[in-house]
Amino acid sequence: MKLWLFLFSCWLWPVLATPVLTTVHSGQSQNWTLSQLQQQLPVQQVSLDDPSYNQHKSYRGFNFAALLQKTGFPPLQDDDTLVLTASDGYAPTLSAAQLQQQQAMLVFAEADKPDFEFTPLQQGKGLISPAPFYLVWPGAGKAAEHFAWPYQLVKIELIRFQDRYAQVIPAAGASAQVQQGFALFKQNCLKCHSINLQGGVLGPELNAPKNVTEYWQRHDLTAFIKNPESYRYQSKMPAFGFFSDAEIDAVLAYLQQMKQQKIKR
Ligand code: HEC
Repeated sequence: MKLWLFLFSCWLWPVLATPVLTTVHSGQSQNWTLSQLQQQLPVQQVSLDDPSYNQHKSYRGFNFAALLQKTGFPPLQDDDTLVLTASDGYAPTLSAAQLQQQQAMLVFAEADKPDFEFTPLQQGKGLISPAPFYLVWPGAGKAAEHFAWPYQLVKIELIRFQDRYAQVIPAAGASAQVQQGFALFKQNCLKCHSINLQGGVLGPELNAPKNVTEYWQRHDLTAFIKNPESYRYQSKMPAFGFFSDAEIDAVLAYLQQMKQQKIKR
């Protein structure tokens, strides 16, 4: 390497190496250095049983809900999702509901170590550092495994349901019954079924190009949703026998509405 290039990269390195946390919401992206975050928020110390290390650990960091607020995130709605991206591209999601259940902390160092220093952590065959940011759940106790403990975090992005699933939402003028059916579908069906190719993939697409109400009889749909095994042995779809007739009617009204809102390919 040419000497000047070597010297130039030595000079640039500390600048490039300053870890930043990127926040993305409402179509805006912003970078935060640790000192900028410290100007906005108090640093707190926390001790907990850490399932990543399998040890009792103490950290320094920020209350996660306060950090979201101070970095300009709008108040979270029930069906909002946070995507937390790690430096290797791993990107687990966190639901607003999980954050309402448990308090999380975003930590940046072990309590007795300098900023961004952690004891190396075993991952697969190698050792890694959870720096720059690591999400922990101090009050989770025995329920720790129900929460994601992602580390090496570099980005937090808010994804609103209405942006991610725009093609699934019934038209604004739809009836109250359709809206009720949509709420039920969102809660119970969307994780496995897509509408207009948005949603889960375990079950079939239910709207495009043919809406399921166009090729299934209404009474068959009602009976199938209540008990799929009565149509197909070993169906991978769970039974919705706990739905009242009115709830099933609402789900079918929603499916019928979406017939008018098909995507074209
Ligand atoms: C755990 C995943 C899962 C959930 C949740 C689920 N389904 Fe299904 N569904 C499936 C699978 C898989 C099939 C494919 C056929 C089978 O296994 O019987 C299916 C098939 C169907 C079919 C028949 C379509 C066809 O042509 O095969 C309808 C209608 C349907 N589901 C509606 C619903 C509704 C309405 C809900 C919510 C109340 C729902 N499903 C929830 C997995 C699911």
